[in-house]
Amino acid sequence: MSRILIVEDVAAMREQYAYDLRRLGDHTTLEAASVAEAIDVLASHPVDCVILDLEMPGADGFQLLRSLQERGPEVPVIVYTGTGSYERCVRAVKLGAYGFLDKAEPMERVLQEVASALERHSLRREVATLRRRLDTESALIGESPPMAALRETIARLAPIPSPVLIVGESGTGKELVARDLHAQGGRADGSFHAVNCAALPEGLVESELFGHERGAFTGADRTRPGAFERASGGTLLLDEIGEMPPAAQAKLLRVLEEERTTRVGGGRPIPVDARVLAATNRDLDHEVAEGRFREDLLFRLNVHVVLVPPLRDRLDDLPALIAHFLGSIAARFGERPRAMSREAITRLAANEWRRNNVRELRNVVERMVIATRDETIGEDAVPAEYAGRSAGRGGLPTRGSLKERKAAAERRIVREALDRNDWHVTRTAEELGLADHASLSKIMKRLGLRRT
Ligand SMILES: Nc1ncnc2c1ncn2[C@@H]1O[C@H](COP(=O)(O)OP(=O)(O)OP(=O)(O)O)[C@@H](O)[C@H]1O
Ligand SMILES: [Mg+2]
Repeated sequence: MSRILIVEDVAAMREQYAYDLRRLGDHTTLEAASVAEAIDVLASHPVDCVILDLEMPGADGFQLLRSLQERGPEVPVIVYTGTGSYERCVRAVKLGAYGFLDKAEPMERVLQEVASALERHSLRREVATLRRRLDTESALIGESPPMAALRETIARLAPIPSPVLIVGESGTGKELVARDLHAQGGRADGSFHAVNCAALPEGLVESELFGHERGAFTGADRTRPGAFERASGGTLLLDEIGEMPPAAQAKLLRVLEEERTTRVGGGRPIPVDARVLAATNRDLDHEVAEGRFREDLLFRLNVHVVLVPPLRDRLDDLPALIAHFLGSIAARFGERPRAMSREAITRLAANEWRRNNVRELRNVVERMVIATRDETIGEDAVPAEYAGRSAGRGGLPTRGSLKERKAAAERRIVREALDRNDWHVTRTAEELGLADHASLSKIMKRLGLRRT
């Protein structure tokens, strides 16, 4: 049951509409004889839908539509006209009316129009709510201790205006982190703009970042604003900053210091009003040592650093990530999401994911979805190159520093002991010759080991 407001200057007409809407449509009704009255009613009562006469003496229906439009489309309006003028109806729809009727139309049509306006309005509201939720909710999946720490860092750094350097191996989610820093900061209403410094030809990096004036170089046939200008009021992510050519590095440093840019080819300085984030999978200290990256620029950028942990340090997140990807892949394929067996997940968890981390996992899950039609995707679907190193059959990493390899070995030893003891912590501590439950718990926490 909905509450409908009828705005019509002719009392008999108004009352007839109200009577029919109550009787046939099971709605409750309110009535207004003029635009002024309608505005009063709308201000003092919740109304689900308005039926509005376009022709009234004094202020007409168009004026009410205009004033409703200024307040935002809070309530759907259906207009009707006695003149049968199609052109007037089109004008009303442009002003935000949901539908239009002719005074001569039967009551069934009126009810239909009301029902459809109510439905469309509620869908519109739902879409707006979902969109808001999508915008504010982080896409970062994972509850492991390293991910919890990452979330904390993001929450701490999001509100401050200084640059942030996001460092992590390829495919670990650096771009998602950047989007979260933007969405949780004070510039969420502004746009998020990402420039991939590695994808641009050397000669175009500067004009892409800082813009160019017409005629600045061959091919610059018109003035073009740069990424800094376009991200104004929002956030600019300089992705793969380690690949930025030296000349652009020098100019970027100046821009960050002076907080203004000039387009290539001159022109007046333009104040910078963008939050600057930079991301890289390179070791920038090493790049500085090799003379490929400016030290002064690094010092500007690395005041605040976010380290995005590699997937192998948070294998506890694997089940949640896999479930997430099973859902998104199924949606993309237009299928119902399927599950993955525990054994298959355990096999996947025995990998290091060094090449591309979470992106690599997503690709493997997609291959597995295609490999089998089974309702539960099992071990058989694990691609051969990921199935080899199942837990307990050697397969320690053959790359990485001694420290990394020791950590991997330690994690494997503890995980296997836990598996043997059915994750009974005291019994496992005994097997490993540790003092007590607490000392093993501490080690498990350090290694990010939790029962999945
Ligand atoms: N924690 C996570 N939760 C959900 N999805 C993730 C997570 N981390 C990464 N992804 C997904 O993995 C893919 C790679 O992430 P992203 O592009 O952010 O990585 P990156 O670190 O920027 O990689 P590159 O160094 O190659 O640019 C994306 O599809 C992203 O949605
Ligand atoms: Mg990236």
